Amino acid sequence: MLKTHNCGELRQEHVGQTVTLAGWVNRRRDMGGVVFFDLRDRNGKTQVVVNSGRSQEAFDVVANVQREFVLQVTGEVGLRPEGQDNPDLPTGEIEVTAVSVTILNPAKTPPFLIDRDEVVDESLRLKYRYLDLRRGRLQRNLTIRHKAIKFIRDFLDERDFLEIETPILFKSTPEGARDYLVPSRVHPGKFYALPQSPQQLKQLLMVAGYERYFQIARCFRDEDLRADRQPEFTQLDMEMSFVERDDILDLIEEMMVGMVKTASIVPLAYEKFPRMSFAEAVSRYGTDRPDVRFGLELTEISDLVADSAFRVFSANVAAGNPVKAICAPGCGGYSRKQMSELEDLAKKAGAKGLAWMAIHPETEQIRGPIVKFFSVEQLVAITERMEANPGDLILISSDTELVVRDVLHALRMEMGKRLGLTDTNALAFVWVIDFPLFEETMEDGHYAPSHHMFTMPKREHIPLLDTDPHAVLSDQYDLVCNGFEVAGGSIRIAERPLQRKIMELIGFSMEEAMEQFGHMLEAFEYGAPPHGGIAPGIDRLVALMAGEPNIREVMAFPKTAQATDLMSDSPSFVAEKQLDELHVAVKESKKA
Ligand code: AMO
Ligand code: AMP
Repeated sequence: MLKTHNCGELRQEHVGQTVTLAGWVNRRRDMGGVVFFDLRDRNGKTQVVVNSGRSQEAFDVVANVQREFVLQVTGEVGLRPEGQDNPDLPTGEIEVTAVSVTILNPAKTPPFLIDRDEVVDESLRLKYRYLDLRRGRLQRNLTIRHKAIKFIRDFLDERDFLEIETPILFKSTPEGARDYLVPSRVHPGKFYALPQSPQQLKQLLMVAGYERYFQIARCFRDEDLRADRQPEFTQLDMEMSFVERDDILDLIEEMMVGMVKTASIVPLAYEKFPRMSFAEAVSRYGTDRPDVRFGLELTEISDLVADSAFRVFSANVAAGNPVKAICAPGCGGYSRKQMSELEDLAKKAGAKGLAWMAIHPETEQIRGPIVKFFSVEQLVAITERMEANPGDLILISSDTELVVRDVLHALRMEMGKRLGLTDTNALAFVWVIDFPLFEETMEDGHYAPSHHMFTMPKREHIPLLDTDPHAVLSDQYDLVCNGFEVAGGSIRIAERPLQRKIMELIGFSMEEAMEQFGHMLEAFEYGAPPHGGIAPGIDRLVALMAGEPNIREVMAFPKTAQATDLMSDSPSFVAEKQLDELHVAVKESKKA
């Protein structure tokens, strides 16, 4: 090794020892005859003193040293002079007085400061990711990530799980996004698809009798990116045989609690995760990924406004649509501008308008553009139902059930943010269970699976597949934390006839099904055990545990929201020859 200790290691007990450190020059101060700098590596920083009186040779070497130069320093550990110690630094009691300094490599001036927590433009950070990764924030985040994954591996190993790798070059495994395709050179015109998840393979491993499988699996999805979505991301992919839903939920809950306690800097809000049906989640929070750190829940007031003179409400209720509201405490004094911000937000979420009522904090008078349409009794009934107090603001939405949900969910999250209720101070996990098997009917009359097509309907609901498919609930479950979906899974269909029936409802012809999933349907004929699984999203979990708003902050080399890598400039054009070999012709390119 080129060093005897790392830069975060030395303490008072090392005083008097001669040590060799290696690392990067952090900050340099020239005091005339004496140069101070911090030498930094992944483990920390140590103050180095280069004194011409002690070693003229070392002093001459550091004369030209700049920040981020890579140095090897040999010197003696000493106590810092009285009053000079730095209690913020673990090595703050000592310093190393250099006897010799070797420049292992010089460095250009970096495009941003490594040692300060200042805000740097993200595209610059991504272009020089290797420098960004030197900074404390990302080092901390990647350490949390490592600890979390190590905890998971140990936890599952102790419980008899096997970690098994599955192919990246595979066949389309739909999870609702577009596939990334890889052209085959050997088979002209044919393509591999990168897995959106190892879903099929893990089910085949169950057929193969592996019983308890997991994998830290890379998944690829070509979809619109957001703060919590990347084109390639990591799942803890798991599957178990001979289990029921609660076996999986209990196991994951125990693992999550342990993982957070081991790796997280944000603590758990509580250790027993509440369970909430999909129906309850959307009714109370307007979404199937509720942020349960705060209230501001949705309340239905349809019955109170059905007979009102406000046509929008009375007509909607007559048409069977709901009128629902949330109450934002203390926001009754919102200005015209603030209200129009909220209205814009509501419209972005699909609303035609935003009705509101504000209660004056002293006079208790109710103001708002629709107040004139309501009798005093109606207004009192609404404020009572909403449990609104003087000074509060009631935000009301009326439209189809789905629009009302989206609008009030968006407003609830916004008001939660404005009122400081979403400050990341604790992780509030909640299980959402009993999802409907199908989402809205598709235009062609078929049914879209709300999870994926291998999800098992609740046994007692199977007869409803023939009569009322939308009423069928499934053994699908999501784990949600602070408003983010952090895991999704289900008990699977292990019987071929049932699988075929679901595929038909989804609109897969038997031929299509055989072509795409023939291997699975066939496998199920060779004795498939009852099985189920789940896949927690590692990136999202680590971001939450690190208190980071974006999963890019917990990935070493993430892509931008446009799915590009600014460091390597990918995706990029390739040579004609390569395309020819792959039997691929590019229709249109902006290549100069
Ligand atoms: P699902 O599609 O719900 O389930 O994905 C599981 C979890 O993966 C995370 N996730 C993502 N994270 C970052 N970027 C993305 N683009 C992204 N997409 C998903 C989420 C999500 O909860 N095969 C099933 C699991 C199963 O049934 O066992 C699946 O992939 O945290
Ligand atoms: P209008 O009578 O169209 O001017 O609307 C009066 C108020 O009701 C305005 O504040 C609108 O934004 C609001 N509004 C209109 N349509 C809806 C709706 N579907 N749901 C809730 N509020 C609405």
